[in-house]
Amino acid sequence: MERKTYYITTPIYYPSDKLHIGHTYTTVAADALARFKRMTGYDVMFLTGTDEHGQKIQRIAEDKGVSPKEYVDEIVTGIKALWKVMDISYDKFIRTTDKEHEKIVQTIFQRMYDKGDIYKGEYKGWYCTPCESFWTETQLVDGKCPDCGRPVEMVSEEAYFFKLSNYADRLLKYYEDNPDFIQPVSRKNEMISFIKAGLEDLCVSRTSFDWGIKVPFDPKHVIYVWIDALSNYITALGYSTDHDEAYGKYWPADVHLVGKEIVRFHTIIWPAMLMSIGEPLPRKVFGHGWLVLDGGKMSKSKGNVVDPLLLVEKYGVDAIRYYLLREVPFGADGVFSNEALVKRINSDLANDLGNLLSRTVKMVEDYFDGTVPQKGTDEGPDRDVIEMALSLPSKMEENMDTLQISNALVEIWRFVGRMNKYIDETAPWVLAKHAEKKDRLASVLYNSCEALRFIAVLLKPYLPNTYTKILEQIGLADDEMAAWESLKEWGVMKPGTVVKRGNPIFPRITENAEVKDDKKQEDAKAMEKYITIDDFSKVELRVAEVIEAEKVEKSNKLLKLKLRLGSEERTVVSGISKHYAPEELVGKKVILVANLQPAKLFGIESHGMILAASNEDSLSLLTLDKDIESGARVK
Ligand code: ME8
Ligand code: MG
Repeated sequence: MERKTYYITTPIYYPSDKLHIGHTYTTVAADALARFKRMTGYDVMFLTGTDEHGQKIQRIAEDKGVSPKEYVDEIVTGIKALWKVMDISYDKFIRTTDKEHEKIVQTIFQRMYDKGDIYKGEYKGWYCTPCESFWTETQLVDGKCPDCGRPVEMVSEEAYFFKLSNYADRLLKYYEDNPDFIQPVSRKNEMISFIKAGLEDLCVSRTSFDWGIKVPFDPKHVIYVWIDALSNYITALGYSTDHDEAYGKYWPADVHLVGKEIVRFHTIIWPAMLMSIGEPLPRKVFGHGWLVLDGGKMSKSKGNVVDPLLLVEKYGVDAIRYYLLREVPFGADGVFSNEALVKRINSDLANDLGNLLSRTVKMVEDYFDGTVPQKGTDEGPDRDVIEMALSLPSKMEENMDTLQISNALVEIWRFVGRMNKYIDETAPWVLAKHAEKKDRLASVLYNSCEALRFIAVLLKPYLPNTYTKILEQIGLADDEMAAWESLKEWGVMKPGTVVKRGNPIFPRITENAEVKDDKKQEDAKAMEKYITIDDFSKVELRVAEVIEAEKVEKSNKLLKLKLRLGSEERTVVSGISKHYAPEELVGKKVILVANLQPAKLFGIESHGMILAASNEDSLSLLTLDKDIESGARVK
């Protein structure tokens, strides 16, 4: 029999900067769901990736003096490293610069066009570049982007439009027929109001920049990034290719997990695109809430972000995963705070779970030479505990199917709490004092070990390392005795199993350690602000004479310069066009970073960077105080 499939996706993130704890939040949640489904027998496809095209990325790369592709390549390497640290078990990582993705997006665009849903028009309107979103005058809030509050730009150009307005009724009908499509419900109501307020056709191409996928039948246009990005959910499965087995197997997606600010794109534009090309719609879009800092929403462009790597270094990956999954009911907004994190670690992980494990293993070592004893007849609270354990798997399934991830963990911790109470109630240390109570003592410790086996398995999707660590201490391996199916009965653990006490799985975080750590970091930071003379001498600065200068076509920032360094000539692209006319540069001697890695900008290979001083509105090139021949070293 074919196994049931489960296809889950995260948003594909903009590689405009390093990702922060907010992106980690979505991805860890998706990972827990994917791992849960795998463990419970599903054939899972878990997709994540990066959304690499668009004006924003092009501008950032231009500012940094590298090509967009070079820029995103480096960020993407960092993102993949982050997911490795966070134990993200994605099955596929899609990049919108993947050649196959680009080709399929063109097919999708062509199919929408052939359907009669795309027409050429004139676009005039407000555009928020950081959000890559168009807005009408009435949607602006105080003249700014209603999503992020930043300034918008008026754009006016020839553009293609998608007949989104034609889909309003069909979308409303789909929501009605599929009441679980948009979750949580509050988001569904927002979308219904949004559509009822009137859907406008969507501008789906741009001509004012070129970092994107070309419109197949009119290549001076690039496809709007959201059309490009949303398509990833099916391009990743090989939609429309001769190897589309994954598409047949996994589409429609079971759930697109997204932050609440992009629910609109996923429940209006994306379904309309799919209707246009005649493909089935995803089963569910879940819009979770935001993690905010005291000061408001974290955002890469605002710079008030929490770096997950630093947190993991300090507290360990499972502690961070636990905090993200447990602290805020999934769906709601929540405040991220270091204090709350430390509190969770100390109370739930170090105290409740850590102690249950260490006290149990220690007693098995002390009273039974480290081997799990044989259990006798049930007495006192035994049945209560066993029934609670056996009821957990179905509760977990229910919580995970409705994406109540935090509740799933609450259930596990109720059991952890129950087991600590069980040990207090049965007081094995008292039983141990009476030889005739040896059988009862054996039962209590058997049950405690078996409970830990349950807890380890239940925790596996959320805290994969903790699963392994608990198993190690209770003498089990990652095999069928620690599989989901094994939670159908109580008593799977074999008497005679050898336990082994280890280090505390979650050491308590003491205020002192916190302070010491911070001090160490401060010292390191203080040294970080210096470079050594060796560092400096790595930079090869030379005098260069400008012999030719011209504007780079399609860019309003860049000039292409030809420079002479002694007998050598080279081409450099420089972002100074707003401050210097090409003709005033010829003959000037400037300072060049001569050993900078070459970069391609607008198709031109640039070999170095010239130095300039600048502030908000002015820019001045560095030149020589006295004449000296070109090629001379600057140091
Ligand atoms: O929107 N709290 O990419 P993006 C919770 N490329 N989640 C957060 C968060 C926070 N403070 N900050 C970010 C894009 N996220 C598009 C998506 S999909 C076809 C294209 C998470 O890099 C959350 O999932 O801005 C949010 O939706 C996503 O990161 C936005 O990532
Ligand atoms: Mg965003």
